[in-house]
Amino acid sequence: MGQVLVVTSGKGGTGKTTLCAGIASSLARRGQQVLCIDGDIGLRNLDIALGMSDTATVSFIDVIEGRCALEDAPRHRAMTGLVLLTAPVSAGDAACEGFDRMLRQARLQFDWVLIDAPAGIGSGFELATAFADRALVVSGADPASLRDAGRAAQLLRPTVQQIHLVVNRISRRLFRQIGATVDDMMDQIGLPLLGLVPEDPNVVLAAVSGVPLVQYTARGAAVAVDHIARRLMDEKVALMRIR
Ligand SMILES: Nc1ncnc2c1ncn2[C@@H]1O[C@H](COP(=O)(O)OP(=O)(O)OP(=O)(O)O)[C@@H](O)[C@H]1O
Ligand SMILES: [Mg+2]
Repeated sequence: MGQVLVVTSGKGGTGKTTLCAGIASSLARRGQQVLCIDGDIGLRNLDIALGMSDTATVSFIDVIEGRCALEDAPRHRAMTGLVLLTAPVSAGDAACEGFDRMLRQARLQFDWVLIDAPAGIGSGFELATAFADRALVVSGADPASLRDAGRAAQLLRPTVQQIHLVVNRISRRLFRQIGATVDDMMDQIGLPLLGLVPEDPNVVLAAVSGVPLVQYTARGAAVAVDHIARRLMDEKVALMRIR
């Protein structure tokens, strides 16, 4: 039975889409069957981070409303275990029930279903997180981002069984300057840490090239993202040192 993992945050722009695409690609490269769902209704961009903008033709509403079968959703050219459903331009109130039904079916067909949640904690957040088994809360290392991540974690606790923190875009200099430690960050939010991802220009360069980060490079953020995927698969991988 597959697991549904939502990648979420409090504050917007923390790197949800980047990490969702990176983790999905890593899992697929490790032989897992992965369904990615762009939950950012009206503002989709997971297709770009996955290098699938030219083939992303089926939205999750197309599947919910029966215009397309889950089996017809496009596969990634290079990573054939990876399938994408994009976000529709809009979704009505009826989407919630259909979303649950679609995820039940997807759990039977895939090892992982990764949902890229929208910014903030509004109705899009509710739909993306309502039926998830696990959640990653992506935060920056700054106090405002961490506080918002803590708020998102509070909202997730009643429904999601396993919740982890990922801190993105960190640099050793920033760590030293703000005097933050990993333990401080976990204490502030009350979530166990699944990974630290460094600030890395390759994230943008990969997106510009239309190639998923883990295919573009095997250094920096790509390694950190791959480690997160391995930890999700229950491998023990030490936290990487931030340079
Ligand atoms: N580790 C990183 N190093 C450098 N740049 C990064 C890193 N992670 C993300 N970015 C950049 O930060 C910006 C925001 O990332 P992304 O779109 O993944 O965030 P998001 O949380 O999905 O945003 P939104 O809340 O708007 O959906 C992008 O330009 C992305 O390339
Ligand atoms: Mg996003």
